[in-house]
Amino acid sequence: MSILSAQSKPLPPGPMQAKVKAACTQCHNASRITEQHLTKQEWSAQLDKMAALGAEIQDADRPAILTYLTKNFGPEKGSKTAAKKSTEETK
Ligand code: HEC
Repeated sequence: MSILSAQSKPLPPGPMQAKVKAACTQCHNASRITEQHLTKQEWSAQLDKMAALGAEIQDADRPAILTYLTKNFGPEKGSKTAAKKSTEETK
């Protein structure tokens, strides 16, 4: 039995949890997302990639989804990529 590999880590609660679950767990489970540590720019690129693959991300929801993903699955503290270019802010 391999329970660990079969289970996915749950998406953390928050206003966007249901939307991310609906939009992002049709093709793969949530662990594809919860195992990542990405910057906002990298998450934005992932959202574009997923949209190209067929994910339905409403324009109105995109900024909030991006914030949710970056907040919960942002770069790990102490990572070099997080420290560099921290002055470059994107909207
Ligand atoms: C239409 C199907 C589909 C939907 C919907 C979808 N994805 Fe994906 N996703 C994929 C496929 C296929 C891959 C694998 C792509 C690859 O390996 O190049 C993937 C891979 C990923 C990866 C990369 C994982 C890794 O191991 O590098 C992330 C992160 C991701 N998806 C996040 C999301 C998010 C966030 C959403 C919701 C906005 C989403 N996905 C919705 C099909 C989908």
